[in-house]
Amino acid sequence: MISQVRVRAHAKINWGLELLGRRPDGYHEIRTVMQTVSLHDDLMVGLSPDGVQLRVSGDFDAPRGPENICWRAAEAFRETFGRPGGACIELCKHVPAGGGLGGGSSDCVAVLAALARLTGLDGDERLREIAAQLGSDTVAFLTGGATMCSGRGEIVEPLVAGRTYDLVIARPDEGVSTPEAYQGIGHEDFSDGSGMDAVARALSSGAPPERLSELCLNAFTRSVVARMPQIGALVDWMIDLGAVGAHMTGSGSAVFGLATDAAAADGLAASLRDMGYWSVAARTVDAGYTLGENLNHE
Ligand code: C5P
Repeated sequence: MISQVRVRAHAKINWGLELLGRRPDGYHEIRTVMQTVSLHDDLMVGLSPDGVQLRVSGDFDAPRGPENICWRAAEAFRETFGRPGGACIELCKHVPAGGGLGGGSSDCVAVLAALARLTGLDGDERLREIAAQLGSDTVAFLTGGATMCSGRGEIVEPLVAGRTYDLVIARPDEGVSTPEAYQGIGHEDFSDGSGMDAVARALSSGAPPERLSELCLNAFTRSVVARMPQIGALVDWMIDLGAVGAHMTGSGSAVFGLATDAAAADGLAASLRDMGYWSVAARTVDAGYTLGENLNHE
């Protein structure tokens, strides 16, 4: 039996995000079209006799203890399945936290998927339940690609995407905390969710990037940009530099720009890096995570 597996944990953007209302449990009812992208963290996950060991490296730091969602994922896996005794996780971070890029949620699902592979529990329905307990936007990474997410984000339906899109992703230095972003919204930010149907239709028909961009809307933008004008400035810079459209992802602070092709995305990312932003070129992908043996095919 193999005792270690490499796994890629993809980041996400939100093509659109609508807030439908407040719920009695303190969460918000949302409707969002999520999309996994080629930007990813790299993990090596192994079985160990007891406890969790977590090592962190890469471009960004992350907690090294039980407050890291990877750690909690390994513990929740053991509590549910009674095995493995412990897990040994090496996490190499390329996705910044506080960006609305779902890095932590994706790492969580990557750990669950890797442990499932190592213990012969691939595809077990309980993985979905564990993921949903650990976060609101985790479940979409089990499905990957373009997904329509509702409820607090954990009700996930796969969407058909008629084509791939080239993107540039960038972030101002400061991140946004998701709970704070939810606290900042007002009545004017609520809508009925129908905008997401238009986004889903555009994706399935393989709409050109300029058409898709016209339909992208994010209910957090008004309040988050009012507090952090540097996000609005980044959107404007992307457009000035030639992006077809640019939008904040999730509750911010990262912004994605649609590019006409991969070379244009590379050029945009290089220009934004020259301006001092963290920025990468990326493209849409069909997976939320990629396990070892599939990595060569990416
Ligand atoms: O579930 P997750 O840890 O991603 O959510 C972080 C916080 O964001 C929650 O504690 C809650 O305050 C807020 N949230 C919300 N409605 C959602 C998702 C998150 O109010 N649908």
